[in-house]
Amino acid sequence: MKESNSDGQKTFALVFEKSIENNFSQIEKNQIDEIEKIRYYWSKSDKKINKWDNSGTENISRLAKVSSKSKFWSSLIFNLIREFKPNNCLELGTCIGISAAYQAAAIKLNEKGKLITLEGSVERTKIANENFMNLQLDNVEISAGKFEDNLENILISNKTFDFIFLDGNHQYNSTIEYFNIILPYLENKSIIVVDDTNYSSEMNKAWKKLLENPNVEFSVDLFGLGVIFINKENVEQKKSNYSMGVIRL
Ligand SMILES: C[S@@+](CC[C@H](N)C(=O)[O-])C[C@H]1O[C@@H](n2cnc3c(N)ncnc32)[C@H](O)[C@@H]1O
Repeated sequence: MKESNSDGQKTFALVFEKSIENNFSQIEKNQIDEIEKIRYYWSKSDKKINKWDNSGTENISRLAKVSSKSKFWSSLIFNLIREFKPNNCLELGTCIGISAAYQAAAIKLNEKGKLITLEGSVERTKIANENFMNLQLDNVEISAGKFEDNLENILISNKTFDFIFLDGNHQYNSTIEYFNIILPYLENKSIIVVDDTNYSSEMNKAWKKLLENPNVEFSVDLFGLGVIFINKENVEQKKSNYSMGVIRL
């Protein structure tokens, strides 16, 4: 990939190398350390919040430890944003804001761009907002409500996005539906990160279906996260689909 003629593929190779080698500048490391302190704080908390369907309560510690993307995967997303420098980022699935904080921190260091992140649980958005405030991240906005109710309005009012992180509803139909709703609002060159492409046979099927889209220029399946590079101007070009097994939590 490093030897490829495509700038996108070369840049992705750099992102991958930087992530595997844990190679960050001091200023990047400081940002990441601050976010990880917050993850640690919540992972030790015994505080509970109401579930969004009011079926009981849930431990914030579990959300920090299990539901949020790990340091490795969040750093990879951070590196993607640092290297590709998108203007308008959108995340489906905020939870308590860990992956959003990584994205917003990268955007802040880039000195351009913003993030909108969507979350159905109002209780989780309160924790996420508290985290963003403590991290002094004012370039991220949460839209509280179901994707099904809010996604289209956000796309219409913001017009275009060039970086998407799909980390909400890990089901075949929903994944395809969100992709199809978002696609017309993407810049000619955009990146879509899909979480848990190997989480289930349903997600694996969805991942393969997404790659059939003619706007996909190349993709990288990292066996955990899948990264799709959209190029709407280059539909004639033969696609490259890479698979790179990364055994990380
Ligand atoms: C895996 S968690 C996101 C983790 C987060 N991206 C991180 O790594 O820090 C997925 C989130 O998506 C939310 N979610 C799932 N389906 C949704 C829907 N249809 N509408 C709104 N939120 C939804 C859940 O409430 C959950 O908090």
